[in-house]
Amino acid sequence: GVRAPAFADPFALVDEEMASLSGEIVQLLGSDHPVLEQVARYFFELDSGKKVRPVMVLLMSHALQSSGTASPAPSLPPTPPSRTAASRGSRAPILETQRRLAEISEMIHTASLFHDDVIDKSDTRRGVPSINKTFGNKLAILAGDFLLARASICLARLRDVEVVEVMSAIIEHLVKGEVMQMKVLRLSQEEGASNSAVMEYYLKKNFYKTASLMANSCMAAAILNSHPPAQVRAAYLYGKHIGCAFQLIDDVLDFEGGIATTGKPALADLQLGISTAPVLFAAERRPELYEMIERKFEGPGDVDAAAAMIRDSDGLERTKLLAQVHAERAVEELMAEVEESEYRDALVHLAHKVLTRKS
Ligand code: FPP
Ligand code: MG
Ligand code: MG
Repeated sequence: GVRAPAFADPFALVDEEMASLSGEIVQLLGSDHPVLEQVARYFFELDSGKKVRPVMVLLMSHALQSSGTASPAPSLPPTPPSRTAASRGSRAPILETQRRLAEISEMIHTASLFHDDVIDKSDTRRGVPSINKTFGNKLAILAGDFLLARASICLARLRDVEVVEVMSAIIEHLVKGEVMQMKVLRLSQEEGASNSAVMEYYLKKNFYKTASLMANSCMAAAILNSHPPAQVRAAYLYGKHIGCAFQLIDDVLDFEGGIATTGKPALADLQLGISTAPVLFAAERRPELYEMIERKFEGPGDVDAAAAMIRDSDGLERTKLLAQVHAERAVEELMAEVEESEYRDALVHLAHKVLTRKS
């Protein structure tokens, strides 16, 4: 399995750089319209959320820098040492643009959550009332659009058209993943093959809704510092597989968590009619689930009955095993192209944390 190194806590290693992240984003969201500004800043002023994406971008930037195969980027000088972790000693400085990229990744993610909570009619997020609950659906949508617009301006200011393209693809993928999720899944009790097609569809949707943001953000960090193609690809694959593992665990936590741990109510996916890996695996053992999946758990008592069957089956265990396969793959891709450093250790540790997280 992915062993947790006893060193290099991924979050502690970039804590200085992360300390300013929410504050920087709050600055970026200044507007001459007070309501828009207030709504867009809501989560950043509370400084809530795990901020996995920016941590990953910063660690990847450092790990590639420490790996020592970057070609010099003539037009983009490194951040002056006084403003980076370089002042801590041996730690390699990263580019100012890579730090901005970390902020952009969190802004795009948060914008998608504003819209997601409207679509899902969610009342809570990160343990506090959601944007839509607090300000209403209309402002939630508009504030999400405003966040995306500001993120686009920040992206353009990186002055790297390839990175603009890579990061813009994420926005398209988020929308595509969300639309894919709306489709009613049809399974067949007779043909095993059609069930694996459903699983394949679900995994593809996970790539679009979750893994693309992590993959493309990690890749953009590598592109910004002109790292060689093999490392650009490794950064992408690390992010992609971490993202796949992350979403699988998210889907487990929908059954195992609740407000107290995840800051979101349990069984939200079933309530929304969404079938995730634990359901699809459980259905292989309990064919009664097929009908419930197709009617989106809208029959009387469906949600509780399905939840009981799933918790009783090996669906959650098999989902965790699949997440572990992805986390291991992420680590392999990283190890193959990036030299040993405390930052690479931290990325390995992050892969482990994704599997064991409870929130
Ligand atoms: C959370 O999933 C939501 C996403 C990962 C993406 C949502 C994307 C959109 C709403 C498309 C619009 C995109 C932009 C960029 C404005 P979830 O509902 O499964 O998880 P949750 O339990 O955290 O709500
Ligand atoms: Mg949701
Ligand atoms: Mg959703």
